[in-house]
Amino acid sequence: MSAVYIETYGCQMNFADSEIVASLLQKAGHTVASDIEQADYILINTCAIRDNAEQRIRKRLRELRALQQRHRQVRIGILGCMAERLQSQLMVEEENVSFVVGPDSYRSLPLILDRVRQENVKAAETQLSTTETYADIEPVRLSSNGISAYISIMRGCQNYCAYCVVPYTRGRERSRDPQTIVDEARSLFNQGYKEVTLLGQNVNSYRFASLDGNEVTVDFPELMHRVAEISPLLRVRFATSHPKDLSDKLLQVMASHDNICKCIHLPVQSGSDRMLKLMNRHYDSAWYLDRIAAIRRYMPDCSITTDVIAGFCSETEEEHQMTLDIFRKVRYDYAYMFKFSMRPDTYAAKHLHDDIPEAEKTRRLEEIIALQGQIALENNRNEIGKTFEVLVEGESHRSKQQLFGRNSQNKVIVFDRQDAQPGQYIHVKVTDCTAATLKGEIV
Ligand code: SAH
Ligand code: SF4
Ligand code: F3S
Repeated sequence: MSAVYIETYGCQMNFADSEIVASLLQKAGHTVASDIEQADYILINTCAIRDNAEQRIRKRLRELRALQQRHRQVRIGILGCMAERLQSQLMVEEENVSFVVGPDSYRSLPLILDRVRQENVKAAETQLSTTETYADIEPVRLSSNGISAYISIMRGCQNYCAYCVVPYTRGRERSRDPQTIVDEARSLFNQGYKEVTLLGQNVNSYRFASLDGNEVTVDFPELMHRVAEISPLLRVRFATSHPKDLSDKLLQVMASHDNICKCIHLPVQSGSDRMLKLMNRHYDSAWYLDRIAAIRRYMPDCSITTDVIAGFCSETEEEHQMTLDIFRKVRYDYAYMFKFSMRPDTYAAKHLHDDIPEAEKTRRLEEIIALQGQIALENNRNEIGKTFEVLVEGESHRSKQQLFGRNSQNKVIVFDRQDAQPGQYIHVKVTDCTAATLKGEIV
Protein backbone atom coordinates (compact mmCIF):
# COMPACT_ATOMS: atom_id res chain seq x y z
CA MET A 1 0.00 0.00 0.00
CA SER A 2 1.29 3.45 -0.81
CA ALA A 3 0.37 7.05 -0.17
CA VAL A 4 -0.61 9.44 -2.93
CA TYR A 5 -0.54 13.22 -2.62
CA ILE A 6 -2.74 15.10 -5.11
CA GLU A 7 -2.23 18.75 -6.00
CA THR A 8 -4.79 20.45 -8.26
CA TYR A 9 -4.60 23.51 -10.52
CA GLY A 10 -7.04 24.98 -13.04
CA CYS A 11 -10.80 25.01 -13.22
CA GLN A 12 -13.50 23.39 -11.09
CA MET A 13 -13.60 20.45 -13.48
CA ASN A 14 -10.01 19.64 -12.61
CA PHE A 15 -10.88 19.73 -8.91
CA ALA A 16 -13.79 17.38 -9.60
CA ASP A 17 -11.45 15.10 -11.58
CA SER A 18 -8.97 14.94 -8.71
CA GLU A 19 -11.79 13.56 -6.56
CA ILE A 20 -12.39 10.84 -9.16
CA VAL A 21 -8.66 10.07 -9.21
CA ALA A 22 -8.64 9.80 -5.40
CA SER A 23 -11.57 7.42 -5.57
CA LEU A 24 -9.97 5.20 -8.23
CA LEU A 25 -6.71 5.01 -6.30
CA GLN A 26 -8.36 4.29 -2.95
CA LYS A 27 -10.27 1.43 -4.56
CA ALA A 28 -6.93 0.05 -5.74
CA GLY A 29 -5.60 0.08 -2.17
CA HIS A 30 -3.70 3.37 -2.06
CA THR A 31 -4.26 6.02 0.56
CA VAL A 32 -4.58 9.75 -0.06
CA ALA A 33 -1.90 11.61 1.92
CA SER A 34 -2.49 15.07 3.32
CA ASP A 35 1.25 15.59 3.90
CA ILE A 36 3.41 15.74 0.80
CA GLU A 37 6.45 14.58 2.81
CA GLN A 38 4.70 11.26 3.48
CA ALA A 39 3.81 10.60 -0.16
CA ASP A 40 5.14 7.78 -2.35
CA TYR A 41 3.55 9.44 -5.37
CA ILE A 42 2.85 13.10 -6.06
CA LEU A 43 0.14 13.67 -8.67
CA ILE A 44 -0.17 17.16 -10.11
CA ASN A 45 -3.45 17.78 -11.91
CA THR A 46 -2.60 20.56 -14.32
CA CYS A 47 -4.15 23.34 -16.41
CA ALA A 48 -3.03 24.47 -19.87
CA ILE A 49 -5.47 27.29 -20.52
CA ARG A 50 -2.88 30.11 -20.60
CA ASP A 51 0.89 30.05 -20.79
CA ASN A 52 1.24 31.34 -17.22
CA ALA A 53 -0.78 28.35 -15.95
CA GLU A 54 1.83 26.05 -17.47
CA GLN A 55 4.75 28.14 -16.22
CA ARG A 56 3.40 27.81 -12.72
CA ILE A 57 3.47 24.01 -12.97
CA ARG A 58 7.02 24.05 -14.32
CA LYS A 59 8.09 26.23 -11.39
CA ARG A 60 6.39 23.83 -8.99
CA LEU A 61 8.29 20.92 -10.56
CA ARG A 62 11.58 22.75 -9.93
CA GLU A 63 10.59 23.30 -6.29
CA LEU A 64 9.83 19.61 -5.90
CA ARG A 65 13.39 18.63 -6.86
CA ALA A 66 14.61 19.31 -3.32
CA LEU A 67 11.97 17.01 -1.90
CA GLN A 68 12.94 14.33 -4.40
CA GLN A 69 16.57 14.63 -3.26
CA ARG A 70 15.44 13.86 0.27
CA HIS A 71 12.94 11.14 -0.67
CA ARG A 72 14.45 9.28 -3.57
CA GLN A 73 11.53 6.87 -3.69
CA VAL A 74 8.90 9.47 -4.48
CA ARG A 75 7.53 9.46 -8.06
CA ILE A 76 5.92 12.49 -9.67
CA GLY A 77 3.08 12.18 -12.20
CA ILE A 78 1.41 14.90 -14.25
CA LEU A 79 -2.33 14.63 -14.86
CA GLY A 80 -4.86 16.85 -16.58
CA CYS A 81 -4.70 19.27 -19.45
CA MET A 82 -0.95 19.87 -19.59
CA ALA A 83 -0.37 16.11 -19.61
CA GLU A 84 -2.76 15.80 -22.54
CA ARG A 85 -1.29 18.72 -24.43
CA LEU A 86 2.39 17.78 -24.09
CA GLN A 87 2.14 14.00 -23.63
CA SER A 88 5.46 12.16 -23.27
CA GLN A 89 7.39 15.21 -24.43
CA LEU A 90 6.76 16.60 -20.95
CA MET A 91 8.88 13.81 -19.43
CA VAL A 92 11.73 14.72 -21.75
CA GLU A 93 11.55 18.38 -20.78
CA GLU A 94 10.98 17.71 -17.08
CA GLU A 95 13.27 14.89 -16.02
CA ASN A 96 11.78 14.50 -12.56
CA VAL A 97 8.38 13.49 -13.98
CA SER A 98 7.83 9.71 -14.11
CA PHE A 99 4.43 9.51 -15.76
CA VAL A 100 1.84 11.61 -17.59
CA VAL A 101 -1.83 10.66 -17.66
CA GLY A 102 -4.48 12.57 -19.61
CA PRO A 103 -8.03 13.37 -18.42
CA ASP A 104 -9.69 10.35 -20.04
CA SER A 105 -7.13 7.78 -18.82
CA TYR A 106 -7.48 7.98 -15.06
CA ARG A 107 -8.74 4.39 -14.84
CA SER A 108 -5.28 3.23 -15.83
CA LEU A 109 -3.60 5.11 -12.95
CA PRO A 110 -3.43 2.13 -10.51
CA LEU A 111 -1.61 0.07 -13.14
CA ILE A 112 0.69 2.91 -14.09
CA LEU A 113 1.63 3.61 -10.46
CA ASP A 114 2.60 -0.04 -10.00
CA ARG A 115 4.58 -0.16 -13.22
CA VAL A 116 6.66 2.96 -12.69
CA ARG A 117 7.69 1.66 -9.28
CA GLN A 118 8.17 -2.05 -9.93
CA GLU A 119 9.79 -1.74 -13.34
CA ASN A 120 11.35 1.65 -12.73
CA VAL A 121 10.09 2.87 -16.11
CA LYS A 122 8.39 6.01 -17.32
CA ALA A 123 4.82 5.86 -18.63
CA ALA A 124 2.42 7.99 -20.68
CA GLU A 125 -1.29 7.35 -21.18
CA THR A 126 -3.02 10.15 -23.05
CA GLN A 127 -5.63 8.55 -25.28
CA LEU A 128 -8.78 10.68 -25.38
CA SER A 129 -12.16 8.96 -25.30
CA THR A 130 -15.55 9.69 -26.85
CA THR A 131 -17.45 7.86 -24.12
CA GLU A 132 -15.62 8.07 -20.77
CA THR A 133 -17.62 10.02 -18.16
CA TYR A 134 -16.51 8.21 -14.96
CA ALA A 135 -20.26 7.98 -14.28
CA ASP A 136 -19.86 4.93 -12.02
CA ILE A 137 -17.10 6.45 -9.84
CA GLU A 138 -18.20 7.98 -6.58
CA PRO A 139 -15.74 10.84 -5.99
CA VAL A 140 -13.80 11.10 -2.73
CA ARG A 141 -14.51 14.66 -1.58
CA LEU A 142 -11.01 16.00 -1.08
CA SER A 143 -11.03 19.62 -0.04
CA SER A 144 -14.70 19.74 0.83
CA ASN A 145 -16.25 21.68 3.69
CA GLY A 146 -18.99 19.03 3.87
CA ILE A 147 -21.50 21.63 2.71
CA SER A 148 -20.99 22.13 -0.99
CA ALA A 149 -19.68 19.79 -3.69
CA TYR A 150 -19.04 19.69 -7.44
CA ILE A 151 -20.65 17.16 -9.75
CA SER A 152 -19.30 16.73 -13.29
CA ILE A 153 -22.22 16.25 -15.66
CA MET A 154 -20.30 16.18 -18.93
CA ARG A 155 -16.75 16.15 -20.28
CA GLY A 156 -14.92 17.68 -23.20
CA CYS A 157 -15.80 20.52 -25.53
CA GLN A 158 -16.05 20.84 -29.27
CA ASN A 159 -16.86 24.49 -29.65
CA TYR A 160 -13.35 25.27 -30.85
CA CYS A 161 -13.19 28.88 -29.80
CA ALA A 162 -10.20 30.15 -31.75
CA TYR A 163 -8.08 30.90 -28.67
CA CYS A 164 -8.85 27.84 -26.57
CA VAL A 165 -6.92 24.61 -25.90
CA VAL A 166 -9.73 22.80 -24.09
CA PRO A 167 -11.07 20.88 -27.14
CA TYR A 168 -7.55 19.52 -27.59
CA THR A 169 -6.93 18.67 -23.93
CA ARG A 170 -10.37 17.34 -23.02
CA GLY A 171 -11.60 15.81 -26.25
CA ARG A 172 -15.11 15.47 -27.65
CA GLU A 173 -18.11 16.59 -25.69
CA ARG A 174 -20.06 13.81 -23.96
CA SER A 175 -22.85 13.89 -21.38
CA ARG A 176 -23.14 11.67 -18.35
CA ASP A 177 -26.17 9.49 -17.62
CA PRO A 178 -28.64 11.75 -15.75
CA GLN A 179 -29.67 9.01 -13.33
CA THR A 180 -26.09 8.76 -12.02
CA ILE A 181 -26.02 12.55 -11.58
CA VAL A 182 -29.28 12.64 -9.63
CA ASP A 183 -28.13 9.67 -7.53
CA GLU A 184 -24.84 11.38 -6.72
CA ALA A 185 -26.61 14.62 -5.74
CA ARG A 186 -29.10 12.73 -3.57
CA SER A 187 -26.33 10.79 -1.87
CA LEU A 188 -24.53 14.07 -1.11
CA PHE A 189 -27.71 15.55 0.32
CA ASN A 190 -28.21 12.47 2.50
CA GLN A 191 -24.65 12.91 3.79
CA GLY A 192 -25.50 16.46 4.89
CA TYR A 193 -24.38 18.48 1.89
CA LYS A 194 -26.51 21.55 1.16
CA GLU A 195 -25.24 22.68 -2.22
CA VAL A 196 -24.16 21.03 -5.47
CA THR A 197 -22.62 22.70 -8.51
CA LEU A 198 -23.17 20.89 -11.82
CA LEU A 199 -20.10 21.26 -14.00
CA GLY A 200 -19.35 21.23 -17.71
CA GLN A 201 -17.52 23.45 -20.22
CA ASN A 202 -20.86 24.27 -21.77
CA VAL A 203 -23.69 22.86 -19.67
CA ASN A 204 -26.29 24.24 -22.08
CA SER A 205 -25.39 21.55 -24.57
CA TYR A 206 -25.88 18.74 -22.03
CA ARG A 207 -27.97 16.07 -23.72
CA PHE A 208 -28.42 12.42 -22.88
CA ALA A 209 -30.56 10.02 -24.87
CA SER A 210 -31.73 7.33 -22.56
CA LEU A 211 -31.39 3.91 -24.15
CA ASP A 212 -34.00 2.12 -22.06
CA GLY A 213 -36.50 1.76 -24.90
CA ASN A 214 -38.76 4.75 -24.42
CA GLU A 215 -36.41 7.21 -26.13
CA VAL A 216 -36.41 10.19 -23.78
CA THR A 217 -33.74 12.78 -24.22
CA VAL A 218 -32.76 14.64 -21.07
CA ASP A 219 -31.50 18.16 -21.75
CA PHE A 220 -29.93 20.57 -19.27
CA PRO A 221 -33.15 22.27 -18.09
CA GLU A 222 -34.68 18.84 -17.46
CA LEU A 223 -31.57 17.72 -15.57
CA MET A 224 -31.65 20.88 -13.42
CA HIS A 225 -35.31 20.25 -12.70
CA ARG A 226 -34.59 16.68 -11.58
CA VAL A 227 -31.71 17.69 -9.31
CA ALA A 228 -33.68 20.61 -7.85
CA GLU A 229 -36.57 18.27 -7.00
CA ILE A 230 -34.36 16.21 -4.65
CA SER A 231 -35.06 18.64 -1.79
CA PRO A 232 -35.86 22.33 -1.38
CA LEU A 233 -32.97 22.37 1.12
CA LEU A 234 -30.42 21.41 -1.53
CA ARG A 235 -29.11 24.42 -3.44
CA VAL A 236 -28.22 23.82 -7.07
CA ARG A 237 -25.68 25.84 -9.05
CA PHE A 238 -24.04 25.27 -12.43
CA ALA A 239 -21.13 26.41 -14.59
CA THR A 240 -20.46 27.29 -17.36
CA SER A 241 -23.11 28.52 -19.77
CA HIS A 242 -22.13 29.34 -23.33
CA PRO A 243 -24.20 32.37 -24.41
CA LYS A 244 -24.90 30.89 -27.85
CA ASP A 245 -27.33 28.34 -26.43
CA LEU A 246 -28.66 29.75 -23.18
CA SER A 247 -32.34 28.86 -23.59
CA ASP A 248 -35.50 30.44 -22.19
CA LYS A 249 -36.44 26.96 -21.06
CA LEU A 250 -33.47 26.93 -18.68
CA LEU A 251 -34.38 30.39 -17.38
CA GLN A 252 -37.95 29.21 -16.74
CA VAL A 253 -36.73 26.18 -14.79
CA MET A 254 -34.37 28.41 -12.77
CA ALA A 255 -37.13 30.91 -12.03
CA SER A 256 -39.54 28.21 -10.90
CA HIS A 257 -37.27 26.62 -8.26
CA ASP A 258 -36.24 28.67 -5.22
CA ASN A 259 -33.35 26.30 -4.58
CA ILE A 260 -31.79 26.82 -8.02
CA CYS A 261 -29.40 29.65 -7.28
CA LYS A 262 -29.99 32.92 -9.06
CA CYS A 263 -26.56 33.33 -10.57
CA ILE A 264 -25.44 32.82 -14.16
CA HIS A 265 -21.87 32.77 -15.38
CA LEU A 266 -22.08 33.86 -19.01
CA PRO A 267 -18.63 34.44 -20.51
CA VAL A 268 -18.78 37.33 -22.98
CA GLN A 269 -15.07 37.27 -24.06
CA SER A 270 -15.39 40.53 -26.04
CA GLY A 271 -17.85 43.32 -26.76
CA SER A 272 -16.84 43.58 -30.43
CA ASP A 273 -18.73 41.62 -33.07
CA ARG A 274 -15.65 41.32 -35.26
CA MET A 275 -13.65 39.87 -32.36
CA LEU A 276 -16.48 37.49 -31.43
CA LYS A 277 -16.57 36.23 -35.00
CA LEU A 278 -12.80 35.83 -35.11
CA MET A 279 -12.99 33.99 -31.77
CA ASN A 280 -15.59 31.63 -33.30
CA ARG A 281 -18.05 32.27 -30.48
CA HIS A 282 -21.23 31.89 -32.60
CA TYR A 283 -23.01 34.94 -31.14
CA ASP A 284 -22.75 38.70 -31.52
CA SER A 285 -23.18 41.46 -28.97
CA ALA A 286 -26.87 41.92 -29.86
CA TRP A 287 -27.56 38.23 -29.20
CA TYR A 288 -25.60 38.40 -25.97
CA LEU A 289 -27.51 41.46 -24.73
CA ASP A 290 -30.78 39.79 -25.69
CA ARG A 291 -29.83 36.83 -23.45
CA ILE A 292 -29.00 39.25 -20.62
CA ALA A 293 -32.40 40.90 -21.08
CA ALA A 294 -34.06 37.47 -20.95
CA ILE A 295 -32.27 36.62 -17.68
CA ARG A 296 -33.43 39.91 -16.14
CA ARG A 297 -36.97 39.32 -17.38
CA TYR A 298 -37.30 35.89 -15.77
CA MET A 299 -35.19 36.66 -12.69
CA PRO A 300 -34.77 40.34 -11.86
CA ASP A 301 -32.61 39.41 -8.84
CA CYS A 302 -30.23 37.11 -10.77
CA SER A 303 -26.54 37.94 -10.55
CA ILE A 304 -24.50 37.73 -13.73
CA THR A 305 -20.79 37.05 -13.99
CA THR A 306 -18.46 36.70 -16.96
CA ASP A 307 -15.06 35.92 -18.49
CA VAL A 308 -13.31 38.35 -20.82
CA ILE A 309 -10.12 38.34 -22.89
CA ALA A 310 -8.13 41.55 -23.47
CA GLY A 311 -5.93 41.95 -26.51
CA PHE A 312 -7.03 39.06 -28.73
CA CYS A 313 -5.41 38.96 -32.18
CA SER A 314 -5.80 42.26 -34.09
CA GLU A 315 -8.10 43.84 -31.47
CA THR A 316 -8.21 47.60 -32.09
CA GLU A 317 -8.56 50.31 -29.48
CA GLU A 318 -12.13 50.86 -30.66
CA GLU A 319 -12.91 47.17 -30.21
CA HIS A 320 -11.43 47.26 -26.75
CA GLN A 321 -13.75 50.21 -25.99
CA MET A 322 -16.67 48.03 -27.11
CA THR A 323 -15.71 45.52 -24.41
CA LEU A 324 -15.78 48.32 -21.83
CA ASP A 325 -19.18 49.36 -23.22
CA ILE A 326 -20.70 45.93 -22.83
CA PHE A 327 -19.39 45.83 -19.25
CA ARG A 328 -21.17 49.15 -18.64
CA LYS A 329 -24.37 47.80 -20.17
CA VAL A 330 -24.48 44.46 -18.37
CA ARG A 331 -22.99 45.61 -15.05
CA TYR A 332 -21.54 42.25 -14.02
CA ASP A 333 -21.37 41.26 -10.38
CA TYR A 334 -18.04 39.55 -10.95
CA ALA A 335 -15.66 38.95 -13.84
CA TYR A 336 -12.66 36.74 -14.55
CA MET A 337 -10.46 38.94 -16.71
CA PHE A 338 -7.53 37.71 -18.76
CA LYS A 339 -4.88 38.88 -21.18
CA PHE A 340 -4.92 36.87 -24.38
CA SER A 341 -2.31 34.11 -24.33
CA MET A 342 -1.55 32.37 -27.62
CA ARG A 343 -1.91 28.59 -27.25
CA PRO A 344 -0.21 26.10 -29.56
CA ASP A 345 -2.42 24.08 -31.95
CA THR A 346 -5.46 26.37 -31.67
CA TYR A 347 -7.04 28.06 -34.67
CA ALA A 348 -5.48 31.34 -33.54
CA ALA A 349 -2.01 29.80 -33.44
CA LYS A 350 -2.42 28.43 -36.96
CA HIS A 351 -4.14 31.35 -38.67
CA LEU A 352 -3.89 34.58 -36.65
CA HIS A 353 -1.16 36.82 -35.30
CA ASP A 354 -0.59 37.58 -31.64
CA ASP A 355 0.03 41.21 -32.59
CA ILE A 356 -1.05 43.25 -29.57
CA PRO A 357 2.09 44.19 -27.62
CA GLU A 358 2.27 42.86 -24.08
CA ALA A 359 2.23 46.36 -22.56
CA GLU A 360 -0.87 47.24 -24.55
CA LYS A 361 -2.64 44.03 -23.46
CA THR A 362 -1.79 44.93 -19.88
CA ARG A 363 -3.17 48.44 -20.26
CA ARG A 364 -6.44 47.17 -21.76
CA LEU A 365 -6.80 44.52 -19.08
CA GLU A 366 -6.18 47.07 -16.32
CA GLU A 367 -8.84 49.33 -17.77
CA ILE A 368 -11.35 46.49 -17.71
CA ILE A 369 -10.36 45.56 -14.15
CA ALA A 370 -10.72 49.16 -12.95
CA LEU A 371 -14.14 49.55 -14.55
CA GLN A 372 -15.35 46.21 -13.22
CA GLY A 373 -14.13 47.04 -9.70
CA GLN A 374 -16.21 50.20 -9.76
CA ILE A 375 -19.31 48.40 -11.09
CA ALA A 376 -19.03 45.58 -8.54
CA LEU A 377 -18.81 48.11 -5.71
CA GLU A 378 -21.85 50.01 -7.00
CA ASN A 379 -23.81 46.76 -7.40
CA ASN A 380 -22.92 45.74 -3.86
CA ARG A 381 -23.91 49.14 -2.48
CA ASN A 382 -27.36 48.57 -3.98
CA GLU A 383 -27.68 45.47 -1.78
CA ILE A 384 -27.33 47.46 1.46
CA GLY A 385 -30.57 47.24 3.44
CA LYS A 386 -31.71 44.01 1.72
CA THR A 387 -32.09 40.71 3.58
CA PHE A 388 -30.87 37.48 1.99
CA GLU A 389 -31.09 33.81 2.78
CA VAL A 390 -27.50 32.73 3.36
CA LEU A 391 -26.01 29.25 3.50
CA VAL A 392 -23.34 29.44 6.22
CA GLU A 393 -20.04 27.97 5.02
CA GLY A 394 -17.50 28.61 7.76
CA GLU A 395 -15.46 30.98 9.84
CA SER A 396 -14.43 34.28 8.32
CA HIS A 397 -10.71 34.47 7.53
CA ARG A 398 -10.41 37.74 9.42
CA SER A 399 -12.02 36.92 12.75
CA LYS A 400 -13.21 33.90 14.72
CA GLN A 401 -16.17 35.96 15.90
CA GLN A 402 -17.49 36.09 12.36
CA LEU A 403 -18.86 33.58 9.90
CA PHE A 404 -19.26 33.80 6.15
CA GLY A 405 -21.69 32.31 3.70
CA ARG A 406 -23.23 32.97 0.31
CA ASN A 407 -26.59 34.13 -0.85
CA SER A 408 -28.37 32.64 -3.83
CA GLN A 409 -26.58 35.19 -6.05
CA ASN A 410 -23.26 33.62 -4.95
CA LYS A 411 -22.15 36.77 -3.14
CA VAL A 412 -20.05 36.25 -0.03
CA ILE A 413 -21.57 37.77 3.13
CA VAL A 414 -19.65 38.14 6.41
CA PHE A 415 -21.53 38.57 9.70
CA ASP A 416 -21.16 38.22 13.49
CA ARG A 417 -21.65 34.58 14.32
CA GLN A 418 -24.09 34.66 17.27
CA ASP A 419 -25.10 30.98 17.47
CA ALA A 420 -25.21 30.20 13.75
CA GLN A 421 -23.43 27.06 12.51
CA PRO A 422 -21.86 26.11 9.18
CA GLY A 423 -24.37 24.25 7.01
CA GLN A 424 -27.35 26.25 8.30
CA TYR A 425 -29.59 28.54 6.29
CA ILE A 426 -30.03 31.90 8.02
CA HIS A 427 -31.25 35.37 7.06
CA VAL A 428 -28.75 38.18 6.94
CA LYS A 429 -29.43 41.88 6.43
CA VAL A 430 -26.72 43.69 4.49
CA THR A 431 -25.31 46.71 6.31
CA ASP A 432 -22.06 47.46 4.48
CA CYS A 433 -19.86 46.23 1.62
CA THR A 434 -16.65 46.31 -0.36
CA ALA A 435 -16.38 45.50 -4.08
CA ALA A 436 -15.81 41.84 -3.18
CA THR A 437 -17.81 41.19 0.00
CA LEU A 438 -21.08 42.08 1.67
CA LYS A 439 -21.22 42.63 5.42
CA GLY A 440 -24.35 42.13 7.43
CA GLU A 441 -26.11 41.00 10.56
CA ILE A 442 -28.30 38.00 11.30
CA VAL A 443 -31.99 38.90 11.48
N1 SAH B 1 -15.97 26.73 -21.27
C1 SAH B 1 -15.94 28.01 -20.75
C2 SAH B 1 -14.57 28.58 -20.54
C3 SAH B 1 -13.47 27.72 -20.06
S1 SAH B 1 -11.88 28.47 -20.04
C4 SAH B 1 -16.67 28.92 -21.74
O1 SAH B 1 -16.64 28.71 -22.92
O2 SAH B 1 -17.23 29.88 -21.31
C5 SAH B 1 -12.14 29.85 -18.97
C6 SAH B 1 -11.84 31.16 -19.59
O3 SAH B 1 -10.45 31.28 -19.86
C7 SAH B 1 -12.50 31.46 -20.90
O4 SAH B 1 -13.83 31.84 -20.76
C8 SAH B 1 -11.64 32.56 -21.47
O5 SAH B 1 -12.08 33.82 -21.03
C9 SAH B 1 -10.27 32.27 -20.85
N2 SAH B 1 -9.33 31.78 -21.85
C10 SAH B 1 -9.40 30.64 -22.55
N3 SAH B 1 -8.37 30.55 -23.41
C11 SAH B 1 -7.61 31.67 -23.23
C12 SAH B 1 -6.41 32.18 -23.83
N4 SAH B 1 -5.78 31.50 -24.80
N5 SAH B 1 -5.94 33.37 -23.39
C13 SAH B 1 -6.58 34.05 -22.43
N6 SAH B 1 -7.70 33.63 -21.85
C14 SAH B 1 -8.23 32.45 -22.24
FE1 SF4 C 1 -12.87 26.73 -24.68
FE2 SF4 C 1 -14.83 27.75 -26.11
FE3 SF4 C 1 -14.98 25.23 -25.24
FE4 SF4 C 1 -15.19 27.24 -23.53
S1 SF4 C 1 -16.60 26.78 -25.20
S2 SF4 C 1 -13.96 25.41 -23.28
S3 SF4 C 1 -13.79 28.75 -24.37
S4 SF4 C 1 -13.53 26.03 -26.74
FE1 F3S D 1 -7.43 24.48 -17.44
FE2 F3S D 1 -8.12 22.21 -18.50
FE3 F3S D 1 -9.81 23.49 -16.95
S1 F3S D 1 -6.98 23.80 -19.48
S2 F3S D 1 -9.27 25.62 -17.31
S3 F3S D 1 -7.88 22.64 -16.34
S4 F3S D 1 -10.31 22.25 -18.71
